[in-house]
Amino acid sequence: MAEWTRVAAVTDVEPGTFKALAAGRRRIVLCNVDGDFYALRDLCSHDDLPLSNGDLEGSEFVCIHHGARFDVCTGRALCLPAIQPVTTYETEVRDGDVFVQAG
Ligand code: FES
Repeated sequence: MAEWTRVAAVTDVEPGTFKALAAGRRRIVLCNVDGDFYALRDLCSHDDLPLSNGDLEGSEFVCIHHGARFDVCTGRALCLPAIQPVTTYETEVRDGDVFVQAG
């Protein structure tokens, strides 16, 4: 089972923003959607390019490379050219820090 890794302080990622970070051996995109944290693997399911080059729009992450959109909460692909979801990881806030179970 993947271990929990501290990746940021809650104050490091303001609501409506995201950061590309390391969580153990994984590169992740940590998104703050209205105060709730979501972690995606930093790899677009369309063409294996970094998702973190794109942008967070509400609860959707837009891949800059070919315009695919993903639901940040579930990883689900919302439009072409992506069909497959992106990998998501569990997040947890403890004592002002954000932890991700990515391993
Ligand atoms: S690599 Fe993300 S849409 Fe193509």
